[in-house]
Amino acid sequence: MSFKVNEHVTWVGKIDWELRKFHGEELSTHEGSSYNSYLVRGNDKTVLIDTVWGPFAKEFVENLKKEIDLNEIDYIVANHGETDHSGALPELLREIPGTPVYCSKAGVKSLSGHYHEDWNFQPVKTGDKLDLGGKELIFIEAKMLHWPDSMFCYLTGDNILFSNDAFGQHYASEHMFNDLVDQCELFREAIKYYANILTPFSKMVSAKIKEVVGMNVPVDMICPSHGVIWREDPLQIVNTYMEWAAHYQENQVTIVYDTMWDGTRRAAEEIARGIGEANDDITIKLFNAARSDTNDIITEIFKSRGIVVGSPTINKGMLHSISALLDIAKGLNFEQKKASAFGCYGWSGESVKLVNEMLTDAGFELINEEGLRMLWSPDQEAVAAANAYGNQIGKALA
Ligand code: FEO
Repeated sequence: MSFKVNEHVTWVGKIDWELRKFHGEELSTHEGSSYNSYLVRGNDKTVLIDTVWGPFAKEFVENLKKEIDLNEIDYIVANHGETDHSGALPELLREIPGTPVYCSKAGVKSLSGHYHEDWNFQPVKTGDKLDLGGKELIFIEAKMLHWPDSMFCYLTGDNILFSNDAFGQHYASEHMFNDLVDQCELFREAIKYYANILTPFSKMVSAKIKEVVGMNVPVDMICPSHGVIWREDPLQIVNTYMEWAAHYQENQVTIVYDTMWDGTRRAAEEIARGIGEANDDITIKLFNAARSDTNDIITEIFKSRGIVVGSPTINKGMLHSISALLDIAKGLNFEQKKASAFGCYGWSGESVKLVNEMLTDAGFELINEEGLRMLWSPDQEAVAAANAYGNQIGKALA
């Protein structure tokens, strides 16, 4: 499969309809994904930008041969070394050895580290150009968006920004343009992608966008390396990224709990009721961490101004679905969000203190330093305490 992006650019990637986990088993991809590779033809030179994930290498090269005689590819650009984009380089470079591979300086390290091949690397930095005849490809380093080696490139004349992972979505669609797909699906996947992958790099996202906007070049299209191409109002995703990068919050609180014998679940539901009684504007969402998709919960946390986290005590600790979630949250480095803890116990009762410690360590501001601890299954008095605790949280988030 291939299709024309415009007169000079052809998409030659792979739509991965079946992908359900990415980064090993770390990230859920309910809607599949795509690995976008672009063939750009100038008047004199032809360049291939990125390839596809390794399992599709043979299919990719065979497909590419239907589009072009491989010997007519003058240059390869590897905007990023992660193997979902570089995975077909070994297969391709066996066919056209010696073809120059343009990448960032860190890209040489990354590609060498992944493949241990002596390829014809041509390291580039921001502002370096490739003359294709009638148009140029300008390189823009994009360090930590989201790896040290990440890079964008901009095609003059056609005014296309090839942004690699930035502005992408794990979203397989037969309609590969933003104006042809369901907008709710598109933005649901775009925000999940940002929340789970780009949140820790938000400061770099803002700075890089300001740098690119400061170049004062027209952008008619943004071609990311995953998901659909932004051709209708392409700057909408740039502006949305600026919002997401600036401590994004909706008027939402997310309650996440796990439970053994339903005590902590009952408390979660009463806390939800208490929040709603004290704050009738706020959207309240409630998840059992063990039964819900972790990355979907992370997306809800990203959207929230506060979270409430509950676990009963087990073996002097907390249930592992909660500790794992909080460990992921710490890595994502959320900022300017409030949090509160609760949980049931039968005897030692350490979980709430430990949840509070993990929340603090992850950068959340505690609404209540003590949290809510409930001995045994909540009785009428404990249910009233959970409701009052919810009231306090609802007011704190107003
Ligand atoms: Fe899509 Fe960072 O790889």
